[in-house]
Order: sequence, then C-alpha cells, then structure tokens
Amino acid sequence: MSGSIVINGGTPLQGTIGVLGAKNAALKHMVASLLAPGLHTIENVPGILDVAIMGQVLEHVGASCVTDGTTLQIDVPETPNPEAPLELVRQMRASILVLGALLARTGEARVALPGGDDFGARPIDFHLRGLEQMGVEFDLRHGVLHAAAPNGLTGTDIFFEFPSVGATENILLAAVLAKGTTTIGNAAREPELTDLAEYLMKMGAKIDGAGTSTIEVHGVERLGPATHRTVPDRLEAGTYLVAGAMSRGEVTVTDCRPEHLRMELKKLEEAGCDVAITEHTVTVRGPDIPMATDIATLPYPGFHTDMHPQMVAFLSVAGGTSLVTENIYSGRFRYLGELNRMGADIHADGQHVVIRGVENLSGCEIDGCDIRAAAALTIAALRADGVTTINDAQHVDRGYDGFVPKLASLGADIRRT
Ligand code: UD1
Repeated sequence: MSGSIVINGGTPLQGTIGVLGAKNAALKHMVASLLAPGLHTIENVPGILDVAIMGQVLEHVGASCVTDGTTLQIDVPETPNPEAPLELVRQMRASILVLGALLARTGEARVALPGGDDFGARPIDFHLRGLEQMGVEFDLRHGVLHAAAPNGLTGTDIFFEFPSVGATENILLAAVLAKGTTTIGNAAREPELTDLAEYLMKMGAKIDGAGTSTIEVHGVERLGPATHRTVPDRLEAGTYLVAGAMSRGEVTVTDCRPEHLRMELKKLEEAGCDVAITEHTVTVRGPDIPMATDIATLPYPGFHTDMHPQMVAFLSVAGGTSLVTENIYSGRFRYLGELNRMGADIHADGQHVVIRGVENLSGCEIDGCDIRAAAALTIAALRADGVTTINDAQHVDRGYDGFVPKLASLGADIRRT
C-alpha cells in the first residue's frame, strides 16, 4: 500500500496499545531458520512489508513461508539454493544476513549488495572481513557478491572496530555450524541480537556471552528446527510513547520490555515527561512544553539511532535549544527539511543536529523519506496546527504493523488515503 497519511493535529492521544515482535529481530530469525532443515515456528511476528519481502527471499532460496496472524511457519529444505534474488536483496538491508546462513549451510552464496533506507553509506566491510577470517573467499561481479568457503568455515578470533549489529549477526550465523570455536570481540549487545542467539540455542547452537561484548560460539555439526517468540519491538513502543508525549497526551504501551528502552525513557524524563513502568508496560505523559535536552545516539544500551528522528520531532517544540548527535548513521537527515517546512527551526552540521524549539508547527504537504522519518513526521503532525499530508507513506508499512489504526485508536485524527 503506498499513498499518503493525512493528520489533523491538535488532539492529545489517550489510551493503551500493545506492540508486536521487533522487526529487527523477526527478520533475522527468518534468515536464521535457513540453518536447520525442517519446520520452524516464529511467533509474535509483525505484519509489515519487510517481513513479506524477507518471506520472498526465503522462498527463492527454497523455503516455504506460511503466516497465520502473527505466527510464521517456515519449512526449510535439506539443500537450500545458495542464491538470494538481486531485486529483493537490494530493497532490504537485513537480507545481507543470508550470506552467513547460506555459507554455513551450503559453503557458498551469491548475494546482491544490500539496499535499505536511504540514509547514507551502509558498508559491509566488517561482515566480509570477519567471514574471510573464517575461510570465505569473495568475488564481486556485476553488483553480485560471489562467496565460497572451499574448505568449509573454521572458527577463529574476530574483533570488530565498531560493535556492528549486522556484522555480529552475520558472523554468529556462520559460526554456529563452523568447525571449532569462534570468538567475536567488541560484539553488538542489542536485545534483538540476544534474541537471535536464544533462537539459535533452541535450534541446538552452542553460544556463550550473547548480550555482552564477547560472544563465544562453539560450532556444531547440525541444527534442528525450533519454535521461538520474537522479543517485543522497543522501537514500535518508543515511537507510540513519543507520539503521546508530543500530543500532550498520555499513552500506555503494553507487551513490551521497558528495560530495553532505558536510555530513551531517561531522555523523555529529562524533557519533562512523566514516565511510569511495570514489568511489561510503560506509560508516558507529555508536558505542555518539552524541556530542551541533548542526545547522542550510540550502540545499545545507548540511545537508539532508530529513535533519533522521533525525538528530534518532539524537541522541535521544546522551550530551548537541543543538540542531537548522530553517531551511527550521519546521513539520515533528509527529513529535517520536511520538519522545517512545518515551521521547525533545525539545522544539521556534520553529525550534529541543532534544534531551536519553536512554539508551533503548522501542517503542510511533506514526504515520508524512510521508516523512522515517516514516523517522526507523523509525530510532528499530531501537534501541528491544521492538516499535514505525508506522501510516500508506504515507508511506515516497512516497519510498523497497523500504524495508522493504532494511532487512531488512541484518538488521533488520522487516516490513510
Ligand atoms: C543498525 C542499528 C541496529 C538496527 C538496524 C536497523 C546500531 C548500532 N545499529 O544496524 O540497532 O537494528 O540498524 O535499523 O544502532 N559499519 C561499518 N562496516 C560494516 C558494518 C557497519 O563501517 O561492515 C558501521 C556503519 O556504517 C554504522 C555502524 O558501523 O556507522 C553500525 O552499523 P550496524 O550496527 O552494522 O548497522 P545495522 O546492522 O544496519
């Protein structure tokens, strides 16, 4: 579905909504299923476009995917096809993980260089160097990466210069079926990665230290299918909480893991929100005028880069000047021009975003840019005077299941055209 989202701003959001499993975990689980032949069941999977695209990638490789509500069943063949389809991989960055999984299963892989959101260069050199250390040879021909491990994959000591989520995941997928032990140093610690390791362990993988900076993987000969429930989406939860705060309302998110949002909730408190948590819920009440606050995005447990646009939208109406420093993807600023069209006073200098708070935003016609940008612009529109039309609204479908109906259920005057 493409089209536009039309919002008539000014209504404070009130109420309770649940969140589903994390996009950034479910997509990885889908790839991980390729490591074991047989019938896998992944629960709590959001009905988003990226899951559908990944389903097509898996089908091309020879698996079959059947969805029943939020449960996904994946039947993986004994011998997968080692080639991922070019046109699908280019649409979605997470598909680069098929490299590690296919190499582990078949000793070879042919994968296009991945696409994804348009926010600057997203290199994969850490993935490739780590796999090379494990015995993989690469050849890039006409945009397609040809990978082969002529002598199989061998465990080794890998140390990343930055705790990359994707690279840690790719090495993890390759290492679970490699010969011997792989140690991943300066590994990413994101909850979605820990969740991936839990699923792999249910499949029979031997992994120590997931969730810490050093992960040790002891390769096994064969894995079996498993059933796993995807960890709740901290980004979906965070987005609705900021939306509620921006609208001067009060929103409760259920079925989430508040401990995965500690830094984001701390920043909302600093900005003047009232925050209350229980084991699986978070309630945020927004102030009349947010307080200016500074944020730097960092690997987990730091502030998530995928919550940066939503917070910039919120701080655009703060009583003062805020500084947001983007340390992960400094090319993700295209949406700032759209916020400024709504009356915000924001400029970017290198990786820094300076936000001078304004009293009011006003609705106008803008472009959605990417998943989190489209969410951030919707958040701005909830408070703006008059009507905002966000074109290219299909971006939200890549990351949010039922974005418009969920906001409408909280009282937003919002519709899809
Ligand atoms: C990023 C997010 C992740 C989120 C995902 C989807 C971080 C640290 N990562 O993961 O939480 O789930 O987007 O939106 O917040 N890099 C290299 N070479 C590489 C790989 C990465 O230089 O081979 C750099 C990147 O340019 C970036 C940083 O390392 O500056 C982190 O990248 P990485 O964690 O790999 O990004 P994603 O896996 O896309």
